[in-house]
Amino acid sequence: MEQEKKLYLETFGCQMNVSDSEKIVGLMRGIGYGETSDPAHADLILLNTCSIRATAEQRVYGHLGKFKSIKKKKPRLIIGVGGCVAQQEGERLLEKAPFVNLVFGTHNLHLLQGMVTAAESGKRSIETDFLDDEKRFDLFPAAGKDGSVTRFVTVMQGCDNFCAYCIVPHVRGREISRSAAKIVDEVAKLTEAGVSEVTLLGQNVNSYGLKTPGEPDFADLLKMVAELEGLQRLRFTTSHPKDISERLIACFAEIPKLAPHIHLPAQSGSDQVLKRMNRGYTRTEYLAKVAALKEACPGIQITGDIIVGFPGEDEAAFEETMTLVEEVGYADLFSFIYSARPGTKAADFADDTPRADKQRRLERLQAAQKRRTLAQNQALVGSVQQVLVEGLSSTGDALFGRTGGNRGTVLSGDPSLAGRLLDVKIVEGLQTLLMGEIVQV
Ligand code: SAH
Ligand code: SF4
Ligand code: F3S
Repeated sequence: MEQEKKLYLETFGCQMNVSDSEKIVGLMRGIGYGETSDPAHADLILLNTCSIRATAEQRVYGHLGKFKSIKKKKPRLIIGVGGCVAQQEGERLLEKAPFVNLVFGTHNLHLLQGMVTAAESGKRSIETDFLDDEKRFDLFPAAGKDGSVTRFVTVMQGCDNFCAYCIVPHVRGREISRSAAKIVDEVAKLTEAGVSEVTLLGQNVNSYGLKTPGEPDFADLLKMVAELEGLQRLRFTTSHPKDISERLIACFAEIPKLAPHIHLPAQSGSDQVLKRMNRGYTRTEYLAKVAALKEACPGIQITGDIIVGFPGEDEAAFEETMTLVEEVGYADLFSFIYSARPGTKAADFADDTPRADKQRRLERLQAAQKRRTLAQNQALVGSVQQVLVEGLSSTGDALFGRTGGNRGTVLSGDPSLAGRLLDVKIVEGLQTLLMGEIVQV
C-alpha cells in the first residue's frame, strides 16, 4: 500500500486563520494528505500567515528559512504560503523565496487542492484574486474536526472599517455577511455531530447583516442560533465598540446560552488618538457601552486589545489608556506596540515617539494587567462556575475546560465528561488558569 502523504500546517494570527486552517486540513485530506506535527516528515508544508504587525510577518520569513533547509535534503517537498502575508506580498513572495511552490490568498482556499496537485507535477502557482460575493462562504463542507467540543462558525468575512493602522481590510477584502439560514444550518449540523459550543466569528460581528437587506441583525442571529436545542453554549468574536447595539447588549440578559464574556477592543483611552485611529467612538462612548454591558450582565468578563505608541500618542494620552483599562477592569488584555503597515493611512503619519518610550509604556500596561488578571482569578476562589469540558489538559492527566467568562480551568475527572457543562468550584486562581473541582456531574 502506498504510504500516506503528510501535511505540516502552521497557523499564525487570529481566529479567522485558525478557522481557515481547519478547512485547509479537510481539503488536503481530500487529496490524500494526513497531518504531521514534524516538518521534517512532511511532503507538503503550508503556512497560513498573518500580517497584522511587522513582527508577525518577519516570523513567517524566519520560518520559511528553516523550511528551505529541509527542502535542500528533500527536493520533492512542496512549500506553500497562504493567508494575509500571501495576500499582501503576492508575486513578491515567489520572487523572494524561490523554493516556495505556491502562494494562495485569503479568498482562494477553494483553489488549493488544484494548486497542490499541480505542484506535485512541478508547477508553481499563485492565486490572490478577491471574490466579492457570497460564494466565498459556500466553497467548503461544514464538517469539522472529529470530536471537537467547541467550534468556530464564520458569520462574516472582511472588514470595511479601515481603522488607520489596520491591514485587515486590505488583505481580507470587503465585508460580507453570510446568510442566517446557512449559519443556523451549519450550527445545527455541528451540534448533531456532538459539538457543544460555537463561537460566531467575524472581524466585526456587530455589523452582521446590516448591509444585506432581508437578513436579521446580529442580535436576532444570536437568538436564532441559541434556539438550537443541542447547543449548550454560544460565544462570538470580535465586536467593534461603535457597532454594539442596545439590542445586542440586551442579549446578554435575554439568552441564557450566551456566555458572559465579550472581547471589546478599545485600542486607546484617548479621544485624540481614537480619532486619528478612525475608530468611530470616544472614550466616553466606549465606557458607556461597558457600563451597559455590566448592567445587563453582572459579572460579565470583558477582554480587549490596546495599541501602544500610535503616532501622536504622548504621555498624557497614554495615561488616559491606563485609566481606561483600570476603569473597565479587563479580565485579560492583548496589547501591542504600534507597527506601521504598508498601504494603511497611519503608515504616512509622523511618528516621533522613541521606541524606548513605547516599550516602557507597553511594559507598564502589561504589568498592571498581569496584576489585575491574577487578582481577578484569585477572587474567583470559592465560587462555582459553569465549565464546559473541552477534553484533556495539556499535561494529559486532568481535564481542561472554560468558564462562561472564558477562563481556562483545570479539573480532575473522567475524560468521558468532554462536552459536558458542569458546575465547578474554583479552588485556586493562578496567573493564566483556574483550578477547580466538580461540584455536580
Ligand atoms: N477586528 C478586530 C481586530 C483584528 S486585529 C477588531 O476590530 O477588534 C487584532 C488586534 O491587533 C487589533 O485589535 C489591534 O489591537 C492589533 N493591531 C492591528 N493592527 C495593528 C498595528 N498596525 N500595530 C499594532 N497592533 C495592531
Ligand atoms: Fe482592523 Fe478596524 Fe477592521 Fe478591526 S475593525 S479588522 S481593527 S480595520
Ligand atoms: Fe492576522 Fe489576517 Fe487575522 S492579518 S489578525 S491573520 S485577518
